[in-house]
Amino acid sequence: MPEVVTTVAELRSRLAEARETALREGSSDAPDARVVLVPTMGALHDGHVRLVGRARDLGGIVVVSIFVNPLQFGPTEDLDRYPRTLDTDIASLEGLADVVFAPSAAEMYPDGAPNTRVSAGEVASLYEGAIRPGHFDGMLTVVAKLFNIVRPDVAVFGQKDAQQVHLVGRMVKDLNLPVTIAVVDTVRESDGLALSSRNRYLDDGQRQAAVVLSRALAAAAAAAQEGADAVLAAAREQLDTEPAVKLDYLVVVDPDTFQSVDAEHHGQAVVLVAAHLGTTRLIDNERISIP
Ligand code: PAJ
Repeated sequence: MPEVVTTVAELRSRLAEARETALREGSSDAPDARVVLVPTMGALHDGHVRLVGRARDLGGIVVVSIFVNPLQFGPTEDLDRYPRTLDTDIASLEGLADVVFAPSAAEMYPDGAPNTRVSAGEVASLYEGAIRPGHFDGMLTVVAKLFNIVRPDVAVFGQKDAQQVHLVGRMVKDLNLPVTIAVVDTVRESDGLALSSRNRYLDDGQRQAAVVLSRALAAAAAAAQEGADAVLAAAREQLDTEPAVKLDYLVVVDPDTFQSVDAEHHGQAVVLVAAHLGTTRLIDNERISIP
């Protein structure tokens, strides 16, 4: 079982120890002394586990953080009902993670909401950020704190949250943070639905309807030959077949800037989709290439 640590002080001394042991026992360049961090909010599913598997493959000491970060939830969002399943989470990391860092909110924010925060900039007010004001500032603030607490050589994120991983990459670049970001492709159910901790909120009918998101993205990718407008039209046509799915946004963005592309765009692009099924919000995305 991974070792479970709940305080910053404990984590730091545990990691210092692990690094020292790895350096003593390893070769001179000691790849085993590298620390790889996978930040999560728990309620772990196979998507998270795939990230931890990648961390394991990267070698070194694997730390998984499990912290439902209040700073990235809006006042009307699901902070209180966000699933908390620490015991099963820890069990699912058997053989994959060395250390689980599961701090309390008081440990992470001993003075309450922090005075100093990371500001995610213009992209943070688009798409997810337009619907969830303050979400990305709160997310980057906790990720920056986790980077400072764990001091990882590599941190692993999922492509599932495309705007999140874009903003984390920008923060690392803008602030010269000494960490490499590794990105893992979205893990899906057999029918295409992207795995998400929020899927458990869906009733049977909603679960069936939810597959239209990945179907819309597949249609979008298939239309890429015909340009950005055709991509959007193909996705919308699929989404329109499911009245239970209330679209929040559907957009084609440039992967470097995350600004939406115009009809003339050529090259790499990402199709982003977000929708409500009842009170549950789901997001998904697909990388495409427009010739
Ligand atoms: P959480 O939603 O728990 O996700 C943790 C990591 O798992 C993120 O990098 C996310 O992109 C990845 N992930 C989720 N579902 C996935 C899937 N189906 N396939 C591949 N990867 C998937 O994202 C957060 O937590 C938080 O914002 C966090 C970064 C931990 C900061 O609080």
